Amino acid sequence: MKKTITELSLLGGFALLLAGALFLGSCEGPAGADGADGADGIDGIDGVDGTDGTEGVAGNAVCLECHITAVKTAVETQWAASLHGTSQTFYPGSPTTVQYAGGRNDCAKCHSHEGFVETVWTGLDTTAADIPIPQPVRCKTCHDFHSSLDFENEPNSAIRETRSVKLIAGGDMVEFDNAESNLCMHCHQSREEAPDDTDGAAIVEIAEHWGPHHGPQANLINGLVGYDYRGEVASVVGGGPHDCVSCHMGDVVGDTIGGHTWVADVEGCAGCHTVVDVHSELVLLQDALFAAGMVDAAGHAIESDEDAGVVVEYQADSAGALWNYILLEEDASMGIHNSAYALDLIDASIKALTAATK
Ligand code: HEC
Ligand code: HEC
Ligand code: HEC
Ligand code: HEC
Ligand code: HEC
Ligand code: HEC
Repeated sequence: MKKTITELSLLGGFALLLAGALFLGSCEGPAGADGADGADGIDGIDGVDGTDGTEGVAGNAVCLECHITAVKTAVETQWAASLHGTSQTFYPGSPTTVQYAGGRNDCAKCHSHEGFVETVWTGLDTTAADIPIPQPVRCKTCHDFHSSLDFENEPNSAIRETRSVKLIAGGDMVEFDNAESNLCMHCHQSREEAPDDTDGAAIVEIAEHWGPHHGPQANLINGLVGYDYRGEVASVVGGGPHDCVSCHMGDVVGDTIGGHTWVADVEGCAGCHTVVDVHSELVLLQDALFAAGMVDAAGHAIESDEDAGVVVEYQADSAGALWNYILLEEDASMGIHNSAYALDLIDASIKALTAATK
């Protein structure tokens, strides 16, 4: 049988298979009745609903905290009343400070928009040339584009200059934790250095405009640029946890305090603590200088007068007392920027004047 199959031709084999299929088909009997349906399976338990996704923040919501007309108008109102926005005059009809100093290449850095923008770019303290029509400090003097738009992790107010500051007088590097306050220290500096105190008896001339420049706040708050009587007055940093922005640009009260008025909320300080005011001590130093003939009754320094041929000179330790007095007067915070340092400077200065007149 096995042999027979192998001998079949391919075609013959196919015919045989076909015949078999026909035979099987012709053998099918009538269909039996359908079997009963099986029982339904038990339903599966429903899955727990997924939590809803958090709603996405509208793309520009964070931008609208600042970039709306209401904020801009409020800021402009504050700014219009500020000295940054207006610049001071000295007597009726006198030029404003920006007109007087804003164009000069060694003053422009701090006294005009153009000067600040140029010196932030060059890193120098002077401009390359005088500025013909200097403009006062304005929004875009302090502001530029944002350093980052990731406000959650890198909050910023688009401040033009936040780098730490190399002080013009003495060259110390100073900075705040909140780098936006470094902006202020680029301009609010003494510029001049205290007389050399190594030889307290050396002779110092009190030339016209002698003394630290009008805004020495960055130096004072860092305990620098006082005449320290050969280290007798230790350098200490003032301000505690505060910085220029937190004290001068806090919550706006009316249109005259806080924010872009730059006026510190002195009454608001009392909400948390009392603040040491060294005014009465400073008056004692003024009295001592007046008694020594070094200031006039209004507290102005007696200076050399070239035209009149008058030369005013003192030993360095006395000149240092005058320096410290002008420093604290020009700082104009009544010692609040650094009361410990201010009080020590006043004490040492009065001591030196008393010793000199004995
Ligand atoms: C904390 C406040 C604040 C927030 C938040 C903020 N900005 Fe600003 N932005 C400013 C200030 C201040 C300036 C500079 C002054 C000005 O131009 O009014 C500025 C400037 C800009 C400028 C430059 C304009 C120019 O003329 O150079 C652009 C662009 C800008 N912001 C876009 C944005 C965008 C986009 C967002 C949101 C992703 C945003 N800002 C969020 C405060 C903010
Ligand atoms: C571009 C330089 C510059 C920068 C930056 C600057 N200031 Fe001034 N600031 C000045 C000048 C100059 C004046 C005086 C304005 C005048 O008379 O023209 C002044 C005036 C002020 C006054 C008013 C002083 C008074 O006699 O009543 C305060 C307060 C003040 N600045 C605080 C600040 C604070 C805080 C910052 C930082 C947020 C700052 N300034 C940043 C240059 C600057
Ligand atoms: C490093 C920054 C800086 C430079 C440079 C500078 N000043 Fe000033 N100047 C200031 C600041 C800040 C004030 C504001 C102080 C304040 O009001 O408390 C000021 C105030 C003044 C005032 C107003 C004085 C007052 O309080 O009545 C005059 C005037 C002035 N400066 C002239 C000049 C001249 C002139 C030069 C150049 C020889 C010059 N400044 C260079 C920062 C500077
Ligand atoms: C002397 C520097 C200076 C000038 C000039 C200045 N700003 Fe600012 N501005 C700042 C600083 C510093 C901050 C950050 C304040 C903070 O962190 O609380 C700021 C913050 C802001 C903000 C953020 C929101 C708020 O109210 O604090 C806006 C908006 C703004 N400035 C707009 C302006 C406009 C508009 C002008 C001009 C009218 C202007 N600034 C001029 C220094 C300046
Ligand atoms: C601890 C809070 C505090 C800090 C920090 C601070 N200030 Fe002051 N500042 C004051 C107070 C308070 C006054 C006195 C204001 C008054 O009498 O109206 C003042 C006065 C001033 C004045 C003179 C204002 C005027 O009306 O003549 C200037 C300018 C000034 N500060 C700038 C600065 C600068 C720049 C910084 C940062 C280097 C700074 N301040 C840091 C609280 C502070
Ligand atoms: C929200 C609360 C609060 C406000 C408002 C406040 N301070 Fe402070 N201040 C503190 C804290 C907290 C400290 C750190 C603890 C301490 O030294 O007492 C401090 C510390 C200080 C220090 C350093 C104290 C020292 O002995 O060296 C001075 C200066 C200061 N504040 C001045 C001011 C001035 C000026 C104002 C108003 C313009 C003010 N503070 C507003 C909370 C505040």
